[in-house]
Amino acid sequence: MTEPKRTQREDMEELVQVLREWQDLEDSGIRTLCKLRSQTKNRLLRQVMSIIMHDSSQHRRVQAILLDGLTKEAFSLTPEEVGEIWTGIEEHEKLERASIAKAHAARKSTRDPIVRFFLSYLLADEEKHHRMLEGLEDIKRDLYPYGW
Ligand SMILES: [Fe+2]
Ligand SMILES: [Fe+2]
Repeated sequence: MTEPKRTQREDMEELVQVLREWQDLEDSGIRTLCKLRSQTKNRLLRQVMSIIMHDSSQHRRVQAILLDGLTKEAFSLTPEEVGEIWTGIEEHEKLERASIAKAHAARKSTRDPIVRFFLSYLLADEEKHHRMLEGLEDIKRDLYPYGW
């Protein structure tokens, strides 16, 4: 017997549920990290906890953006809106590429494991920005299916 096909609405409701549970995870993660941070006087460990806490609240914010887009006001983007700032985005993309190159150069210049640890974190983040803009370009391509 084949399972009944799920409706789009059911898919959306499940997604909303997953995002809410994920937000709870971020919240408890932040609480745990805050507690851990208070348990050490080591500056490096405290800084690592702070960085992850900051990232977790950023994740929580992105989940909130998604929840708003799914439940309150649907996302919308027109070719005109993308076109207006696209040159600026391409300019910025150069900066992200330059940052990635700096992160690589910096990492090559040291063997210090702690310095490399932080540089790797930065490199991953810069690569993430680069990928985000690439993703935006994919969306733009869908908006302009025949080129422009
Ligand atoms: Fe997270
Ligand atoms: Fe960046």
